[in-house]
Amino acid sequence: MRSYDPRETDVRIGRLGNELWEEMQSERPSLFNREWWENQLLGRVMEDEGLKVDMFRFVDVLPTLRDTAAVSDHIREYLGTHDRELPKALTIALKAASRGLAAPLLARLIRRNATRMAERFIVGHDAAEALPALRTLHTHGIGFTVDLLGEAVVSRRESEIFRERYVELIDTLAAAVPAWPEDVVLDRDDRGRLPRVNVSVKFSAMDPHLDAVDFSGSVNRLVERMLPLMAHARDAGVFINVDLEQTSLGGMTYAAFERLARHPELAGWPHLGIVVQAYLRDADSRLNDLLDLARKRGTPLTVRLVKGAYWDYETLSARLRGWPAPVFARKAQTDSNYEHLSRRLLENHKWLRPAFGSHNLRSLAHALVVADELDVPPGALELQMLFGMAEAERRVLRERGHRVRVYCPIGELLPGMAYLVRRLLENTSNQGFLRLALHDEREIGELLAPPREVAPDEAEAGAVPAFVNCPWRDFTVEAQRTAFAEAVATTSATRCFPVVVPVIIGGVEHTERERLAWMSPNDTGVQVTSFCDATREDVDRAVQVAWEGWPSWRARTPDERAILLERVADRLEWDRERLAALQVW
Ligand code: 2OP
Repeated sequence: MRSYDPRETDVRIGRLGNELWEEMQSERPSLFNREWWENQLLGRVMEDEGLKVDMFRFVDVLPTLRDTAAVSDHIREYLGTHDRELPKALTIALKAASRGLAAPLLARLIRRNATRMAERFIVGHDAAEALPALRTLHTHGIGFTVDLLGEAVVSRRESEIFRERYVELIDTLAAAVPAWPEDVVLDRDDRGRLPRVNVSVKFSAMDPHLDAVDFSGSVNRLVERMLPLMAHARDAGVFINVDLEQTSLGGMTYAAFERLARHPELAGWPHLGIVVQAYLRDADSRLNDLLDLARKRGTPLTVRLVKGAYWDYETLSARLRGWPAPVFARKAQTDSNYEHLSRRLLENHKWLRPAFGSHNLRSLAHALVVADELDVPPGALELQMLFGMAEAERRVLRERGHRVRVYCPIGELLPGMAYLVRRLLENTSNQGFLRLALHDEREIGELLAPPREVAPDEAEAGAVPAFVNCPWRDFTVEAQRTAFAEAVATTSATRCFPVVVPVIIGGVEHTERERLAWMSPNDTGVQVTSFCDATREDVDRAVQVAWEGWPSWRARTPDERAILLERVADRLEWDRERLAALQVW
């Protein structure tokens, strides 16, 4: 294999990207058609971050609003109260609605528009409705992976319904597709036949109680629930891809996937895949683990490499909890990691079958050029895009003989809302390729340049908050989970029970009091504490001591008081595991 100068590779990427871009120009992109954006307010939304937040919050609640009054109340409250310039039509409509008579009309209009917007990204309400659209894709030489909207179930029953729906989906599609004509690009790779039916599953749909606090229990339940579904898919000749969601579920998703992939019942089954999200700082080690897994298993796995769809959520929820963000702060870092991971996948394509999920022409051209340089056989990789987006791009890639698969969500508007909001966030992000290329009409050469670091802006660099709480434990981190489990075990094993809790007055401990026993609520045979009951005289003395201490406390400056409190907090934090374990008991 000959080695390539990175600059040469970049020249090739630029050339390929430009050619693809030229070929795309004959088709008007449906998503970034100006009229549509303006109708949907999205043009305005892209210029005004505040409006964007309010608009998406409104879209999020809309399906749950039962009557027209609720719709018009919410639209006024979410969009109308701020001192902002709304598109004329909407302002007129809002004024009319405030007079009452036109309210139902406005509500209907809004609902219709939101539904239309959502349906653009959804292939059908159920398998039967989706079939003709999937067939059309096949006719155009485009493959599919279907996904049932409405993950993140909240009850066991709901998760069971989900599994039943997946079985039904598998059966319906597997029965229909053999009648479709042969397509050499879609139906084969360099190793043999590929399943036509490809199904994507989100694990949050499989169990309502996934929680890193109960990591092994969560993993066990996932394995128990997925095993029959995967075995069913294998028997039906269907490919299963496991989607990745927010990082709080990431560790258990990979752990369950590993157990499933290595399960004797699924041994030798090649039509199994999982996602790697390039925006994660630990994506590279995930890829290493998957490579190990495929080798141990002796059968390849497919890896769908994506950038990641939960960036806003990850960033905000980490900030809220005082945890380091699991995702890169800057888009260029993610793009650059994507290229790094693309290369690693291509180098290991015998074990990890690469599927590049992106609409970014630079990222895709990079993967294709590197594949060529590494002599990866055509067909050993595929490109994946989302339904309702980037139609021209997928067409030109297919015309060049690449296998392109479209991610096709099936379901209803209400359960699909989270999916819609993710699509709206990515399409309106001022860093997304489609928006930059098609809406902002940025120079294509600039967009095809290698991802580069930009200096952090001032807001990010400055602003040290005055006070930061000690963050909660993050039980998705294995070390934290283990330390706590050990503390709980040690607390009982060292037989420090029952802990004697004295009455303390003015720093002096008193144990010669009537004792009360406190039993562990989760194991009533274990007495956790023996605590001394304060007498009336104890209380009087405690109040007296506090009263005497008041003048000196009053004389302390706020800083001195803060330092004392911080010291107490440090002491508690130092002993954090043991104290928390004691609370558990
Ligand atoms: C999502 O659901 C496409 O799986 C990705 O946002």
